[in-house]
Amino acid sequence: MKTNTSQQTVAIFGAYGHTARFLIDEFHKRGFGLALGGRDPERMKALAEVHPYARTHLATVDDPASLDALLAGAALVVNAAGPFGDTAPPLIEAALRAGIHYIDITGEQPVTRRSFETYRDRLAGGGLLFLPALGFFGGLPDLLATAAMGDWEAADDISVAFALDSWHPTAGTRKAGARSAGKRVTVSGGRLVPFDDSQDTPADWDFPAPAGTQPVRPLGTADQISISRHLKASDVRAFMNEAPLADLRDPNTPAPTAVSEDGRSAQSWLIDVVVTRGAERRAVSAVGQDIYAVTAPVVAEAADRILAGRTLPNGTASGMRAPGEVFDAEDFLSSVADITWSRR
Ligand SMILES: NC(=O)c1ccc[n+]([C@@H]2O[C@H](COP(=O)([O-])OP(=O)(O)OC[C@H]3O[C@@H](n4cnc5c(N)ncnc54)[C@H](OP(=O)(O)O)[C@@H]3O)[C@@H](O)[C@H]2O)c1
Repeated sequence: MKTNTSQQTVAIFGAYGHTARFLIDEFHKRGFGLALGGRDPERMKALAEVHPYARTHLATVDDPASLDALLAGAALVVNAAGPFGDTAPPLIEAALRAGIHYIDITGEQPVTRRSFETYRDRLAGGGLLFLPALGFFGGLPDLLATAAMGDWEAADDISVAFALDSWHPTAGTRKAGARSAGKRVTVSGGRLVPFDDSQDTPADWDFPAPAGTQPVRPLGTADQISISRHLKASDVRAFMNEAPLADLRDPNTPAPTAVSEDGRSAQSWLIDVVVTRGAERRAVSAVGQDIYAVTAPVVAEAADRILAGRTLPNGTASGMRAPGEVFDAEDFLSSVADITWSRR
């Protein structure tokens, strides 16, 4: 982690949400100035009282001038307002008007896909970097898959398996899940193909300790989009163990509760990425605590690197990109103290 000594400002939209709390604390800890935006006047007022060092703006996606005021003077904007179908396009347009970099934390497959498809050509060579889906889903597995691939130019299969001990979803997660239902895809035969993740039967996955062997179900996540954006593989698949999926299905599962002062819940997570080429196999795994909390240091590490020109190749990355395309994946993963990762 580097401390931002030049006091560059990062704008955060959706700033009173659950995950934004972690983002605010992480960017503040790293020495960034903060501009915080959201649509609810009362909640923005309360936020201003808790974070007196930040400037705060009432901002809505249907009022471009309010977004421009939020982004004025910022070097990068983080969009944490989800579901993202309504917020990503106006925030991307606002970042383009302001001439600043953009990161969002969506885990929604359809939104991630649309961002890549809509803006790929428009943003190419423009000098600004746009990273959609840079979170526990979408970003972290893409970095792990990039590290697992190493010098391989292509794989037969890239599989990402998640083991969570539980999943207490936020309101934003529940709404985002509902928006993606019935629209998910996976990568098969080198192409994105429709996929119904409710129809599949479980299979066993051999997770490393402490998760061990557990039944998993196939999933459609932002990871299939991010990974297939830049890593060549015939199949890109995602899986999750059953306990968190049962939590998600249950409408009575509560939102996450903090077990420490920094707001983190007790939830433990493990991501296992296995890539195969013929009979060869490479695997990496990572563990940590709280999938919402870990999104913050991943985003802040990316922002640090973008603003310091530490992107590939030679600091010149631009356009709508996946994190594994523009960062040294191994170095990135090793720089985030909240992630413990290894080859296996
Ligand atoms: N990729 C990942 O791994 C990852 C990690 C963390 C979070 N996420 C996603 O990020 C989103 C936020 O998560 P969260 O945990 O912070 O949820 P949350 O606590 O429910 O917060 C959602 C925030 O987004 C705002 N928002 C939603 N729609 C908006 C709109 N149209 N205009 C303005 N603001 C809007 C909400 O404001 P109001 O209360 O006014 O609606 C609230 O501030 C969710 O979709 C979640 O799934 C993804």
